[in-house]
Amino acid sequence: MDFRKYIEKEPFTAVATVAQQTGMSVFVIGGFVRDLLLKRPSKDVDFVVAGSGITFAEALASFLGKNTFVRYFKNFGTAMIRYEGWELEFVGARKESYRKNSRKPIVENGTLEDDRKRRDFTINALSISLNKDDFGKLNDPFSGMKDLKNKLIRTPLDPDITFSDDPLRMMRAIRFATQLGFTIDELTFAAIQRNKNRISIVSKERVIDELNKIIQAEKPSRGFMLLDKSGLLQQIFPEFVQLKGVETVNGKGHKDNFYHTLEVLDNVAMVSDNLWLRWAALLHDIAKPITKRFDPRAGWTFHGHEFVGAKKVPAIFKKMKLPTNEKMRYVQKLVLLHLRPIVLAQDVVTDSAVRRLLFDAGDDIDDLMMLCTADITSKNEVKVRRYRKNFELVRQKLKEVEKKDRIRNWQPPVTGEIIMETFGLKPSRQVGDIKTAIREAILDGKIHNDFGEAFEFMLKTGASMGLQVVSHNHFPQK
Ligand code: CTP
Repeated sequence: MDFRKYIEKEPFTAVATVAQQTGMSVFVIGGFVRDLLLKRPSKDVDFVVAGSGITFAEALASFLGKNTFVRYFKNFGTAMIRYEGWELEFVGARKESYRKNSRKPIVENGTLEDDRKRRDFTINALSISLNKDDFGKLNDPFSGMKDLKNKLIRTPLDPDITFSDDPLRMMRAIRFATQLGFTIDELTFAAIQRNKNRISIVSKERVIDELNKIIQAEKPSRGFMLLDKSGLLQQIFPEFVQLKGVETVNGKGHKDNFYHTLEVLDNVAMVSDNLWLRWAALLHDIAKPITKRFDPRAGWTFHGHEFVGAKKVPAIFKKMKLPTNEKMRYVQKLVLLHLRPIVLAQDVVTDSAVRRLLFDAGDDIDDLMMLCTADITSKNEVKVRRYRKNFELVRQKLKEVEKKDRIRNWQPPVTGEIIMETFGLKPSRQVGDIKTAIREAILDGKIHNDFGEAFEFMLKTGASMGLQVVSHNHFPQK
């Protein structure tokens, strides 16, 4: 097959010229070739060079001109160049393997043939020549084209060898299957099941990168089912596996929270690409196993699972090397609030309940509503329809109340400083109590969200606490 038409353009022609000048053989390899054939255009290109990838990248940079710089990844012997929106990565042909219990790969130079053999999957071992005598020729030593056509993930070598070279590839197999909608070859999958424990020698950062790619796929549940079936899920995310199972007492069972959560995740994935909203979906019921009780009258209950779940989020993020920053706090907040709109939708929707929800959720209210809508997975059509209808009502109410009261991202109109100055107080519990009383009065709808009314309310509250007014500085002008 001739791939000339895809590579008879920059930056490939420049790479080919430098290959000729330096006398080094160069091939485009890996994801770029795979994605070209799958019609998923990309601007990240991997090149394999017979010789040093670094030397080649330096020669290319000087050919391309002054503003082109080489970035070095010394540990891996690779070099990268950014050029007009392209990311070009160069690696010398090599053999690579992990020591049995070490995280660090041993990198040895190898031939181009060695290099193709040490690639993860047949569909990633396809390469296109940039060399003068066979420019544009596809090199397909392991029938990668056939596997692409049959949508199959398969290792080029005995999978036990490929996976022991780099155990992260077990996750990659599942990630590619999920992203591309491919099947994992039976022997390859059986090797994942056999080698699952070896994932422990891979750094948590690399594992979470792959897991996040699975979560960001169009239908992430596919990946989770495969992770579960292979045994990898238990290794990397045991808390999630604990959601599995249905217990029955007196003939009453509960939902299987594992499958329910995956359904919620897929539902969220249909409406949002936000990785952290997807994490919130994954974790929203994480504390159900530990809060589960059976009450002979009420049946199964999971009281407080939203609080306990939100509390568990930091430990999970830390352990999995997810960022422990505002992304984590966002996930925590959504886990904590995930029942609130549902409770609202079941009840008569009062203004004050809506105001409280707006106050607690702030700017994340739309994401919270998406999560809660995704959480309706009942098989009972009547129930689903009723919830959806009530949710519409909640949405409408949210809009009305927001327009009227501007509670979203709201700060009470009377500040702590004003309270302290008016009553001559130092920072103290009393100041906090007055502030809370004002906030509650507004959220309950007793007073309007307006400075004059809040100030008056402050004076009354202060008086009832026996406080004297010592400053009139902030009294509203009549
Ligand atoms: N590779 C490998 N084993 C790994 C990682 C990468 O054999 N553990 C090889 C594969 O040939 C892969 C190439 O290096 O195609 C580039 O790797 P990477 O950029 O991580 O993946 P891509 O295949 O390009 O896919 P994506 O961009 O979707 O991650």
